[in-house]
Amino acid sequence: MFGDEADDHDALVAAFSPDELPDGLLVADRDGRVVVFNRAATRLTGIDERAALGRDFRDVLPLRDHDGHDWWKHTDPYGGLRTRTQQTERFLQLPGGREALVTARYVRQPKRCGDVVRLVVSFRDASHRGRQERSRANLVSTVAHELRSPLTSVKGFTATLLTKWSRFTDDQKRVMLETVNADADRVTRLITELLDVSRIESGRLEVRRQVVDVIAAARKVIAGRVAAGESEDRFRLRVRDGLPEMWLDPDKIEQILGNLVENAVRHGGGTVTIVVEPLEGRVGDAQMYGAAVSVCDEGEGIPPEIVPRVFRQFWRGKRRSGTGLGLFIVKGLVEAHGGTITVRRAPGGGAEFRFILPAGAPDFA
Ligand SMILES: Nc1ncnc2c1ncn2[C@@H]1O[C@H](COP(=O)(O)OP(=O)(O)OP(=O)(O)O)[C@@H](O)[C@H]1O
Ligand SMILES: [Mg+2]
Repeated sequence: MFGDEADDHDALVAAFSPDELPDGLLVADRDGRVVVFNRAATRLTGIDERAALGRDFRDVLPLRDHDGHDWWKHTDPYGGLRTRTQQTERFLQLPGGREALVTARYVRQPKRCGDVVRLVVSFRDASHRGRQERSRANLVSTVAHELRSPLTSVKGFTATLLTKWSRFTDDQKRVMLETVNADADRVTRLITELLDVSRIESGRLEVRRQVVDVIAAARKVIAGRVAAGESEDRFRLRVRDGLPEMWLDPDKIEQILGNLVENAVRHGGGTVTIVVEPLEGRVGDAQMYGAAVSVCDEGEGIPPEIVPRVFRQFWRGKRRSGTGLGLFIVKGLVEAHGGTITVRRAPGGGAEFRFILPAGAPDFA
């Protein structure tokens, strides 16, 4: 029995073919002629195995770096440094501009400083990775930009006050200090948002569940806006009875509601209505108990072609008053609770953001 299994195993191993490799593989002999060109290599280059075999590796797999230089000319595997045995991972361009992550090994004989007897090149599609990296670079430049403008103002006003203190009246100084204060708040807020974004992206967002009165949370958010100077009759809260006991993270629920209400006030218009209602029904395969909350306003609303974009990082409308992180964070917080969020046109015009949250259970259950 054992012997049979071992035979099976050996047979399976022996049957391995380079075509099973998920990455493209090209092997060239001591003269640089292609001897192996697997199926993934064909998929990535569009060149057939039969067309590749026997030809010079440089013709079969012409690679260019991002400045457009011929990569093989630059590295010269057969003629270059005799101590070199490999090329580490690198983004290069395949013919047609497709991006690939390429590694190469130079097999030498004798091992130390001998001639290259075999060149093994593996490559994989990197268009996705490349895009990710670019979006990271984009993120860095956006963040730098967002931090710079408030800091420029903080620096400008403090420097002016320090050098020309006696030339300003008390009122003028107060105005400048208020600006500095507000800009410092902006920086702090941005950094807090960025930390949330990074927690969401890395899956480190912690949900500390306890029983939360969602209706009271909505009331508190409204009271906060009124205390900050908004008129009380801009807000309406409608509640349907029968909410189950909700186990949620209270701070995060307030953050979600706060963000949506702030958007409704800042980007929307008219009366802002929050509706809280129980939810019982099927979501996918599962029976779900929980709450549905919607926040709608009577402003211009969000055009349907823009809807897929509003939850993205740093996407914001034309007025550009915020940083465009609010809704990305809201979506992350809702999803961390196992819920979902959607947006549509409110019945009375304006935008309606609606999220559903499962009732949840104590963490230790
Ligand atoms: N209620 C709304 N009515 C109309 N447009 C909205 C509404 N809510 C959001 N938007 C649009 O969606 C964009 C993204 O919203 P989001 O909350 O992510 O960013 P922000 O409010 O611009 O900045 P932040 O919330 O980070 O300060 C907004 O810039 C705005 O154009
Ligand atoms: Mg916002």
